[in-house]
Formats: sequence, C-alpha cells, structure tokens
Amino acid sequence: MSKAIFIRNASQLVTLEGSSHAPLVKEAMSELRIIENGSVWIEDGIIQAVGTDEELLAEYGDRLGEAEVVDATGKLVTPGLVDPHTHLVHAGSRENEFNMRLQGATYMEIMNAGGGIHATTSATKAASHQQLYEESYARLDQFLLHGVTTVEAKSGYGMEWETELKQLEVAKQLNEKHVVDVVSTFMGAHAIPKEFKENPDEYVRLLVEEMIPKVAELGLAEFNDVFCEHGVFTPDQSRVILEAGKRHGLIPKIHADEIVAYEGAELAAEVGAISADHLLKASEKGLAAMAKKGVVGVLLPGTAYFLMAESANGRKMIDTGVPVALSTDCNPGSSPTVSLPFIMNLGCLKMGMTPAEVITAATINAAHAINRGSEIGSLEVGKKGDVTIFNVNNYMKLQYSYGVNHVDTVVKNGVVVVK
Ligand code: NIG
Ligand code: FE
Repeated sequence: MSKAIFIRNASQLVTLEGSSHAPLVKEAMSELRIIENGSVWIEDGIIQAVGTDEELLAEYGDRLGEAEVVDATGKLVTPGLVDPHTHLVHAGSRENEFNMRLQGATYMEIMNAGGGIHATTSATKAASHQQLYEESYARLDQFLLHGVTTVEAKSGYGMEWETELKQLEVAKQLNEKHVVDVVSTFMGAHAIPKEFKENPDEYVRLLVEEMIPKVAELGLAEFNDVFCEHGVFTPDQSRVILEAGKRHGLIPKIHADEIVAYEGAELAAEVGAISADHLLKASEKGLAAMAKKGVVGVLLPGTAYFLMAESANGRKMIDTGVPVALSTDCNPGSSPTVSLPFIMNLGCLKMGMTPAEVITAATINAAHAINRGSEIGSLEVGKKGDVTIFNVNNYMKLQYSYGVNHVDTVVKNGVVVVK
C-alpha cells in the first residue's frame, strides 16, 4: 500500500470527466472539464476524489498528516500523457539516413535499397536482450520526463520469430520493471523481409499460420498491426493478417495511408480496427467510415515533420467525427523523439487543432486507442493515479510556449516519480 498523495490547488485541473466509455469526438474534444483551484486525492495508486481544493479539504482535511502533499498552485495538472503508437524497442539510430534525406533521398528509396526499417532490423537482431532492454529503458526514462505515463510499443524490427520474440519479451520486462506502463503490439508485418521480396505471400502465410498464433498463445501482445502501404503490404494482404490476429484475440491496428492513398482507412473500418494511424493520404470516404465505426485516428505529425511531408489534416478529421489521438511514433527512422508535448504543438501548428483538442488527443483519446479508456486518460474516481503537472498556469500556454519541457512533476500509480 502506498502513502496517500494529495495534489493541491492547481490553477487548472484538466479532468476530462465522463470520457471513459468512448473516445471524444467533434466539439466534445474541446471539453476539458477544467476545475480551477483543483485538487486530487490518490490512495493505493487509485484516484479517490477530484474537486476544488476547498471541497477536498473538507473531505480529507483531518487526514492531511498522512498524505504526501504536492502543491500545484499556479500550475496545470492533467492526466498522465498516453502515447498510443511507438516503436520503443529497437537498437541503434539512423542519423546517416537523416543526412541522406536532407540531400534529397526519400524514405522509401532508402528502405528499398536495404536501409530504413531493414537497417534497424539488422541492429535489433544483433543486439542482445540486455542491450535492447537497456536502450529501450533509457527511452522510457525520457518519455517519463516529458510527462508520459503509458506507452504502446510495437515489435517489427525482427520479422522472423526469434527477434520478434526478443522485442516482445523486452517490452514485457519493461512493463514489469519500469514505472511507465508498456502495452504491447505485434507488428511482424512491418516490412517484407528481404528474403521474401520475390514471394511476399509466403511471408504473409508465415505471419498468419505461425507467428500470430504463437504470439497470442504466449500472451505477448494485445494488438496486431500492419504497415499497409504501396510497396509494403497490400490492402488484401493486410486484411488477411488483421483477420488472422482477430481469430487469435489480437485487436487490429493499422499503419494506413501514410505515403500514398491506399484505402487503409476503409480497411480499418471494415475489420473493426481500434485505431488507424498516420492517415496523411486517407480518403474522405475512408475517414467517414472510420467516424461511423468509432475507429480512433492516431495522428503522428512528428513523422510528417521529420520526413518533410505535409501533415495529416487533423482539423478535417475532427470535423468529420473521427476521434483523434496524437502520438510520437517514436522510432529511429521517421520520428526519433519522445516528446509528446512537442507533437501536441505540431498538432496545433501543422494540423489546425486547438490547445484543448491536443490535450484530449494525448490523454483520453490516446487511452482509447490502446483499449485503456476505462483505466487511464482522465482524472476521475477509480482511475489510476497517473498525473502530470506542468509549470504553466493554463493549458493554452503549454502549446504557446513551445519547444520547452514544462513538466514539473509526474505522479505514476499515486507515487511521485519525477520532481
Ligand atoms: O510508423 N511506417 C512504418 N513504420 C514506422 C517507421 C519505422 C522506421 O523507419 O524504422 C513509422 O513511421
Ligand atoms: Fe509507426
């Protein structure tokens, strides 16, 4: 049992109350349900009460002595940030490719020439479990310093059983050992391995008949993701892979319509994916289908920024009724960052989202994108005591004053872990 913790008197306490059952859409994405002079009482890792400081003092005043008090006067308090799309577990970095791209090479050219995802696959294959664990652990430390308390993590830098297994086992160990929660996704369908270049359907067969059943049997992932992209997996192959995952209890996710329009958004709606991610080139029809089915659109403006591409149209997606979430896409090729607050800033300046919408997108909608909407993502009684405190006095300033890490304190499961 952990000590009670009392976060007191925030100038703005963003609760996002009432959003646990479904992601927020349209105007509701702007309804942050802010309490001024707000306080939270957390005990045994779980939120027990949320209200004004006056209200909580009336309820808990006689127990002040037993709690750790965190004074949030003049500060912004939000639910711990949630990153619903990362390639956390990988070895090495690819600054050489960054340099090549700055001189005109494209992301797909580099990948088709054997670099890109293949380069990180070689490095990840070569790394020991311990090396991979340590590199990824250090990244999680950085996520936490940027206010993130839960991350999703994908495999996909193996594309053969042993390395995929190694990545998933590292993610599991990180979830157990690091304070940040790690939620696992199997992404054996991240690229066509070089050995299968002439016969990609054979790799699809391997995924469907061998890898997916084994991952599910070992309980090493909750989600199954595929890079549905021209030159990678076709929509038909993606459908087969995602349906196979469903038969084994893995929830579909999809990297959709990132580089060319490929009806990935349509496929996400058709298979009942929990999220479709990227969506830079998604069609109106596809977005409408996603909105109808409540598929979360996980937008990754850091990737567009880093690949010097035009961002997805977040504004249009919200107006269409797609529940929008934001993520870093943290990976060594297209978005080597852990700063979800920076991604939120790009959400405003590159995708036409408002400061209120980007908070929703990086908390409760992100939680729904990884099936955690009832546990995290809002500050409500019964939810995990995951809270981020920023050294700004209002939520607009968090985006206005950009490129600065405003995180002051992070509370995870009711314990102060960053101060
Ligand atoms: O989400 N699009 C495919 N996968 C990653 C990039 C991975 C890499 O380049 O290593 C992404 O952008
Ligand atoms: Fe990705």
